[in-house]
Amino acid sequence: MSQKNFAQCTPGIGEYVETLFQPVDAALAKIRDQSLKEGLPAIQVGPMDGRHLEVLTRLIRPTRAVEIGTLGGYSGLCLARGLQPGGSLHSFEKNEKHAKVAEEHLRSALEAEKLDVKFQIHVGPALENLAKIEAEGPFDLVFIDADKPSYPAYFQWAAKHLRIGGVVIGDNTFAWGEVHRAAEKSGNDKLMVGSLDEFNRQLAAHPSFRGTILPTAEGLTVGVKIR
Ligand code: SAH
Ligand code: DHB
Ligand code: MG
Repeated sequence: MSQKNFAQCTPGIGEYVETLFQPVDAALAKIRDQSLKEGLPAIQVGPMDGRHLEVLTRLIRPTRAVEIGTLGGYSGLCLARGLQPGGSLHSFEKNEKHAKVAEEHLRSALEAEKLDVKFQIHVGPALENLAKIEAEGPFDLVFIDADKPSYPAYFQWAAKHLRIGGVVIGDNTFAWGEVHRAAEKSGNDKLMVGSLDEFNRQLAAHPSFRGTILPTAEGLTVGVKIR
């Protein structure tokens, strides 16, 4: 059972789900293992959240998708599988080494699976680089999984650049089980937990969105732009 288990409060259920659905197939395991071997941190989405991303993306069938936080390309492959053939995935990554590893491994995974996806990594701080793709919008899907303090700014970008019917997804939005205690935090915890809380609040209060948090191990916030 992975550490990032599903339905954490009932461990038997999580084990049941992961055993049944086998969310980490050979291609995803290869990206995960190669990334680890090349020294990247093992902070890709949890196994079931990877599956959620793939299933949600297949439901949305985006032509234009955005990912903020590439790491080694694990979630990128999940998203790429659900894209409309000929669609594009813009992924934003600050760390040059992460971008290089993802470029190599995701590129070969896309080829192996014959996925017709225009995949492009933008290296540098996402908030500076997002402006470069705005003319291509509006977008069908924005997945947010980079630096937590910037989640509120990423939400604002998504709210502005998603089409009606477009979807915003955020990883780690339970803030490691602390999000409901944001007000009690201080220092760096306050920044991390408070930013994730703020992101959830922005979605909940936004008149153009309907949102929820899928109660996965880490919390996966999902919102659809309705007007
Ligand atoms: N989505 C990935 C995991 C992302 S981990 C997956 O599930 O496979 C978070 C990533 O965000 C790290 O690679 C980190 O380098 C990157 N990151 C941190 N701050 C960033 C920023 N300001 N802009 C873009 N990427 C950033
Ligand atoms: C960590 C996990 C994440 O999913 C992420 O996006 C950033 C950090 C972590 O476990 O530290
Ligand atoms: Mg994450």
